[in-house]
Amino acid sequence: MTASIIDGTAIAERIRQEVAEEVAALKAKYGLVPGLATVLVGENPASQAYVRSKGRACEEVGIFSTKPTLPGDATQSEVEGLVRELNDDPNIDGILVQLPLPGHLDEEAILGAISLHKDVDGFHPVNIGRLVMKGREPLFVPCTPAGCIVLIDEAGTEIAGADAVVVGRSNIVGIPVAGLLRNRDATVTVCHSRTRDLPEKCRRADILVAAIGRPQMIRGDWIKPGATVIDVGINRVEDPTAPRGYRLVGDVAFDEAVEVAGAITPVPGGVGPMTIAMLLKNTLTAFHYRLRRLGLE
Ligand code: GUN
Repeated sequence: MTASIIDGTAIAERIRQEVAEEVAALKAKYGLVPGLATVLVGENPASQAYVRSKGRACEEVGIFSTKPTLPGDATQSEVEGLVRELNDDPNIDGILVQLPLPGHLDEEAILGAISLHKDVDGFHPVNIGRLVMKGREPLFVPCTPAGCIVLIDEAGTEIAGADAVVVGRSNIVGIPVAGLLRNRDATVTVCHSRTRDLPEKCRRADILVAAIGRPQMIRGDWIKPGATVIDVGINRVEDPTAPRGYRLVGDVAFDEAVEVAGAITPVPGGVGPMTIAMLLKNTLTAFHYRLRRLGLE
């Protein structure tokens, strides 16, 4: 059996289109547009590239964006001060602090300084706390995990009652995606570097989410026939035949997995495009919170 390919690029494009249409309609109605601030501290090239592409995506859908940048040696109070200014800025609905931050900064305190209603990354401790607690609702759900759930739904996979295995326990992906799957009534196992017999754990998964950052670690024979496989990994591997000397691969050995799985996301073109699409959606949600504060909705 060959798996069906879950086309993240097409699904993300549809979501961006929907956001663009709603932004245009709200602009026509109220003369206001959503605003996103992406805060970058330091000069990490990967972070600079992410922030640029978030800015471009905003422009395409009519969301105003700004990219305040601080030097890599900025102090804790400078970064928190910038966040507070953005909290008070009436034209900014969403604040995203690009991670990772330089090592001398207290990430938890900085994320905790973001206004709950502007926390479009969903990393504020209160939003994460609500996400993992039973019966509580976060104001925002982190973008990549939310994108994973959309892809599973789009594949037509029933989450309720499924055995889901998440490989990786990062704050950005593994932990929140496990919470979301459990909130949808999956039985969730979270695996990590100390997990015993990882292949055996993976083989139980009806839904397998790979978020470990290790190129092609999950092999075809670790996958249950017919499973839905969501590959969050984006890893560079050397390839002298590729134009840039490298190519991108996921955490799953795609060529093997595609022969066994029922549905699978490719890399690139799977989870990657969903992250920004969900960020745009969260920024639109934050804009609705502003419209409500203004008494317009
Ligand atoms: N770094 C890697 N992924 C993310 C993300 O989703 N949000 C932020 N703020 N930083 C990241």
